[in-house]
Amino acid sequence: MISTTVAIDGPAASGKGTVSKAVAAHFGFAHLDTGLLYRAVGRRVLNGEDPVAAARALVAGDLEGEDLRGPAVGQEASKVAAIPEVREALVDFQRAFAARSGGAVLDGRDIGTVICPEAAVKLFVIASDDVRAGRRWTELRERGLEVTREEVLEDLRARDRRDSERASAPLRPAEDAVVLDTTRMSIDEAVAAAIAHVEAARGG
Ligand code: CDP
Repeated sequence: MISTTVAIDGPAASGKGTVSKAVAAHFGFAHLDTGLLYRAVGRRVLNGEDPVAAARALVAGDLEGEDLRGPAVGQEASKVAAIPEVREALVDFQRAFAARSGGAVLDGRDIGTVICPEAAVKLFVIASDDVRAGRRWTELRERGLEVTREEVLEDLRARDRRDSERASAPLRPAEDAVVLDTTRMSIDEAVAAAIAHVEAARGG
């Protein structure tokens, strides 16, 4: 069986996580949310650790816990993600995951450009700022966080700015990535479009 790597990148709350999970489930591939790695480093830093030491010491248990998904850890994640040594410490784990024989979907910011430039399928998922803020606001409120839409929008914009402007692996689509704009799509439509791209890339 040919091992297929699917790289799904995009800005904060663009829908790439939902699409990635569904694509992985559809094809029976493993899924790695690489944002969680940076969030786990961010959480350790908020607890007083040095960012580079924290990235090198990361263990599976660090990827658990509801608080990882919150805005405070997210902001810290995008700060530590700008440090080249932090990114370097996380490369081998991501590449080993991508090479799994059963196929893998990785989502993040630099999967198609840096981690898996040879990926068989590359998607870059985007949505308007307003739609992204609305989706993340709903998600956070469902988890009981009291935040306003404006705060969520400002949080996303600050992270996108930092992620796009950093020198090390900035957020940008790979040249051979297909852009999937989910602004006017339902989840089902976005998932169907992503699956169609994977099928086309695998030869139908
Ligand atoms: O889910 P959301 O889109 O809000 O963020 P995430 O994917 O969990 O990523 C959190 C932060 O980690 C991002 O703002 C990036 O700074 C960083 N990140 C990265 O630099 N490279 C990746 N491959 C994944 C995440």
